[in-house]
This record gives sequence, C-alpha cells and structure tokens, in this order.
Amino acid sequence: MTTQNATKIEGKQNLTRRQFLSTSCMTLSGTAVGLGTQRLLGREGTTAPPIPNINPGYIGPQFFDEREEQALLEVLESGSPFRYWGPGKPTKVLHFEEKFAEHMGTHFALGVTSGTAALDCAVAGLGIGPGDEVIIPAYTWWSDYTCVVNAGALPVFADIDRTLNIDPRDFERKITPRTKAVIAVHLLGGLCDMDPIMGIARKKGVAVLEDCAQCVGGSYRGKKLGSIGDVGIYSFQINKLMTSGEGGAVVTSDPLIYERAARFHDMGTIRRVFTDRSGPSRVQTFAGENFRMSELTGAVLGAQLTKLDLMLTQLRGNAGSIYDGIKDLAGIRLRHRPDPDGDIGYGVYFEMKDKTMRDRCIRELRKRKVPASTLSGSVLLPIHESVINKRTRHPDWPSFNSTEGKKIKYGPDSCRQTLGIFDRFVQIRIGPKYTERINNYIVDTIRRVHQDLV
Ligand SMILES: Cc1ncc(COP(=O)(O)O)c(C=O)c1O
Repeated sequence: MTTQNATKIEGKQNLTRRQFLSTSCMTLSGTAVGLGTQRLLGREGTTAPPIPNINPGYIGPQFFDEREEQALLEVLESGSPFRYWGPGKPTKVLHFEEKFAEHMGTHFALGVTSGTAALDCAVAGLGIGPGDEVIIPAYTWWSDYTCVVNAGALPVFADIDRTLNIDPRDFERKITPRTKAVIAVHLLGGLCDMDPIMGIARKKGVAVLEDCAQCVGGSYRGKKLGSIGDVGIYSFQINKLMTSGEGGAVVTSDPLIYERAARFHDMGTIRRVFTDRSGPSRVQTFAGENFRMSELTGAVLGAQLTKLDLMLTQLRGNAGSIYDGIKDLAGIRLRHRPDPDGDIGYGVYFEMKDKTMRDRCIRELRKRKVPASTLSGSVLLPIHESVINKRTRHPDWPSFNSTEGKKIKYGPDSCRQTLGIFDRFVQIRIGPKYTERINNYIVDTIRRVHQDLV
C-alpha cells in the first residue's frame, strides 16, 4: 500500500489518497472556511457585503495529512494493532506516551481509551473510594461526576466563576475533613485559576486532579495544564483539539499514582513497560478495568501531537484578534482569563447584563451567520434529574448511602451562582482555519449587534 494509490469517489474523479483524505475531512467536519460567500439583503433592501462562510469545524481532522496516514499504514502493515505484542514490534502507544509526557512536562503518561476512562484511572490513582468527598464544578461534563460516583465516593459541587471554571472561594468553602480531592476542570479552552486552587489544596491536604479534556495543550503561567496538580487527564474524542475519534491520557509525575492508574487501566495488573518507567511495584494487584489504547489510536495521536502547537497558534491567533476587537465595548464583559496566553482559543466568551439581553444577542448574531450560542459541551449537573435523585446503578451503592450522602442536597439552590453565569454568557466558536476576513467580520458583527442592543 502506498500513498500514491488513486481512490475513486462516486465514480467522479481519481484522487490520490492524500487528496481523498483532505476532501473527506472537510466534508465530515462540515468545514468550508473561505470556500465561498453568501449574500443577505441589507436593511433597506440593498445587497449587503457578502458574508464569509463561517464554520469552526472539528479541529484535529482539519490537520489530518500523510503523517496520520503513514503511521496508520505502518500499524496495518506490521499486523500488530495491539499495544503489547503481535507479529511486528508495536511501538505507537509506547512512543505516544513518551512524547506526550515530554510535551506536558510530566514524568509519566498513560494512553487509554477515552477521557472518561482517564478520569476513572486518575481517581483510582489517587486512591479515592467510599467515605471520600470530591469537589467538582457545578458546570462540567458528566464524566467528572461519574468518576466520583463509580469510585463509591461522594460528589460535592462548587460554583463556577467568571473564568467559567471552578470558583476557588467556593472550592474552599466546600472542603470538609472528608474531602480527598478537587477536580479542576479547564472548560471551553480556558484555564482554572490554578494558583489559588493549588494554594488552598496544599494547605488543606486535598489532591488536585486537572481535567484538561477541553483544553489540551493549554498552559498557566508557563506550566502546561495537567502538570500543575497531582494528576491530569485529557480526551482525544472528536470535539477536542487533537483527536483519534476516541482516546484519552493520564499524566502525572508521581510514581505511585502512575502505577495505580496503569494497574486500573489493565485489570489491576502491571506490565514491565510501566515499572520500567516508575520503578519497582509499590501496589498489589486489585480489580481494575480494560482501558488499553490500541496501536491504531496511538498512531493517529502520535501524528496529531506533532501538530498540536500549530493548532494552538492558529486558534489563539484567531480568538485573540476577536477579543482585541471587542474588548472596548461597554455593556459586555469578557470572560475572565487568568492567563490569556495559555487559553487555547476554542471560543470567544462574553457576558451580557441578563439572560434576555444574552438571548437577543445570540439571536441577532446567528441571523448574521456568526456561530454564537449559549455555553455548550457540558451539563449543569446539580439540576439534572438523575443527580437530584442520586440515582446509581445499584440501590446500595456507597456514594449516597453514607450519612453525608443521605444528607447532601443537589438542585438549583446548590449552584445559584453557576446558573446565573450560565444564563448571561455568549459563546462564539473559533475555527483554526478562520481567515483575517472571517475574524474581522465576526468583530464587526458583534460591534453592530451590540450597538443595536445597548
Ligand atoms: C471536561 C471533560 N472531561 C472529560 C470528558 C470525557 O472525555 P471522553 O468523551 O473522551 O470520554 C469530556 C468529554 O467531552 C469533557 O468535556
């Protein structure tokens, strides 16, 4: 198999595999940035200037090229898609783990099947179990809640603040003698304010798990996200930055956390490859899962990692120019970004006076084809029916059967600040391939809509 083979699409044309790959990526991600324009009628019936075709698309697939293709072919040709053995010599996951740890500035990385699996491994790595409390933000993805419940521990919600991430003051308020860890989730491409979080956590003896699923490659004051707390996790599902469709990773510099996480991801057993990294085993075998990453996933991720900095540069450049273009507008407040240089530029976020104004703003922006929406990609967990009702897979599950578990009340009163913030924020998604013209169009449109609204 060579990259020069021609591939026929719907009998229309002969394309090289490379051309086919980029064509299908554009189609699959719905990305047609810069490929055309649409005309809308202006207010007085005159033809308004053409609107650029704006679609942020899925980020990682827009960077697929012969590197992913070559790496996948190597796995197929070697006949060894399993990471530990096969007729060839499987090295893709091994190399990906080494490069990923180096990139993130940690001693160890572990490739797993998803971000959810990575969270379960990290929780096992920290030794969290029944009787423990884990503080998580009230607005986040399901997996930050399920990893706590699946360990038999009790999830305690803290409000988010204008970073759209956990409010350090509410985190501190929620600490009890039973608090074992906090999950600092870097949501929507923006960073948690890690200095106060780490200060509080260290003072109170609370472990810090950084969930970087929505912020892969971000950094805080010069340190890569995931390397600041005790353990970090990533997701490589298609909505994230670098992607293999599904996939995840755990990073840490703590050999005990690493061994426990590696054991959990492989039925509780440990292989040489991990003890070669973290030293002689410190833990006996316990019941775990199978969350092993395949060589096919490792191949794609190894190639995507070489492009992560490029993806970040493009996203940050585009988001930065839009933030710059609207920062002087009175009546809207930009998302608080504790370190704007470390933000990954997944979106541009700003706050309106109230929900009515926010909804009108989104409506007007969308009419003009700007990809505006409410905050997306996460859930207001404390007001979800299954959370309010503390439903688990078995009625005797330990999480909510302890004295504290029975006492805790979820629902809107447990997260008023979060609900208010959620209702006032506008999100505008950013694509890595946006052109200067698209960025300028988004800025102009926000400015015009703002003028009409305030
Ligand atoms: C913040 C956060 N954590 C964890 C996950 C779980 O990742 P995965 O979908 O790979 O299981 C996601 C997925 O959307 C997420 O957004």
